[in-house]
Amino acid sequence: MDSILVTGGGPLNGQIPIAGAKNACLTLMPATLLSEEPLTLTNAPRLSDIKTMTLLLQSLGAEVSSLQDGQVLAMSSHDLTSHVADYDIVRKMRASNLVLGPMLARLGQAVVSLPGGCAIGARPMDLHIHGLEALGAEIELKDGYLHAKAPKGLKGAVIKLSFASVGATENIMMAATLAKGTTVIKNAAREPEIVDLADCLRKMGAQIEGDGSPDITIQGVDRLHGATHQVVTDRIELGTYMLAPAICGGEVELLGGRIDLVGAFCEKLDAAGIQVTETDKGLKVSRRNGRVKAVDVVTEPFPGFPTDLQAQMMALMCTAEGTSVLEEKIFENRFMHAPELTRMGARIDVHGGHATVTGVERLKGAPVMATDLRASVSLILAGLAAEGETVVSRVYHLDRGYEHVVRKLSGVGARIERVRDQ
Ligand code: UD1
Repeated sequence: MDSILVTGGGPLNGQIPIAGAKNACLTLMPATLLSEEPLTLTNAPRLSDIKTMTLLLQSLGAEVSSLQDGQVLAMSSHDLTSHVADYDIVRKMRASNLVLGPMLARLGQAVVSLPGGCAIGARPMDLHIHGLEALGAEIELKDGYLHAKAPKGLKGAVIKLSFASVGATENIMMAATLAKGTTVIKNAAREPEIVDLADCLRKMGAQIEGDGSPDITIQGVDRLHGATHQVVTDRIELGTYMLAPAICGGEVELLGGRIDLVGAFCEKLDAAGIQVTETDKGLKVSRRNGRVKAVDVVTEPFPGFPTDLQAQMMALMCTAEGTSVLEEKIFENRFMHAPELTRMGARIDVHGGHATVTGVERLKGAPVMATDLRASVSLILAGLAAEGETVVSRVYHLDRGYEHVVRKLSGVGARIERVRDQ
């Protein structure tokens, strides 16, 4: 298996282009299942998760062509041949469960493997199931698969989510576009990826209002048509690379960056002594004089501080002046990067959903292991600031969510290379 070799060093300067959002693309792709006409996505990120979703859609009979070096995805679900999302694909990526709502709405039936737990938590699907049942679906669990059918079609309903789940909101919203009558999702997730999905569905003819607020109203229509849609900027990739000059010093411009995507995160950066300014092309980030200051962080659904930036923020806090407490409120087991950062000399004490980090002057390079997607990039950030060499193994996690990470970071002066397994 490949690894990434990082040699810690001086400040970073230059520009980093930010890709389209992985998490938006992974919900926009299944939207193709809702229509017989083609759906084309532009600004798609080049990631292994996108390849996994491509394989899943193809296994259902959809045509998916990757054009322009993977940045354009041309899809057609004119002739679907299967309604079964197989365990072999679903177990690789939880977001595979986003085919459930669209298939049910278009075909009246869907069989989707339960994804199982993952490294960061159990991640059940009860909210997806309750929401689709409220729309009239009959769902039972057999042999590890959810068997869903809607023999009489789906019917609009008022659905109150007990937690603002991103995936459940997406699945229910997609299913409701073709349901009879009006659906209201209360306590819906407000993430930018939800708004992006709603924008795309509207281009396909769906009637949706209120996305970006806790109440989303969907008026069902008989059919959806084709569309072309540009995937929104990846706010997690953006936040990750904003932390690179924060941790190493220097000044980096993030091309395509938007402050509205990372508001709560920017407030914490400001409190830590990091300067963020808007430019014509995106956001510019630099560190004010001296060491970064410790700040406390609590992860929350959007517009709060994103759980997907918690590991990277912890890397920054490892070298901050003072003690910070990071509280993880979205996933129950999302501190696996802490012991790896400790191997690099960080002082971290994890107790339940809290991690107390006491900053040290300088981290020291070490061999470390990526445990999940965001943890892997936090180790790279830490390595950039550390003395000596850091080798991050199990980089397949990284390939799921960061395109051209070596090219992007070496473009601003980082000493980073991919070491191919012989
Ligand atoms: C999405 C993102 C992921 C991000 C997460 C939270 C994608 C592909 N992934 O994941 O990167 O970290 O949002 O911002 O967009 N839950 C239940 N029952 C359910 C559904 C969720 O208990 O039916 C719980 C989960 O276990 C978790 C929490 O709700 O603890 C948040 O999950 P959710 O918002 O659904 O995240 P995902 O859509 O899986």
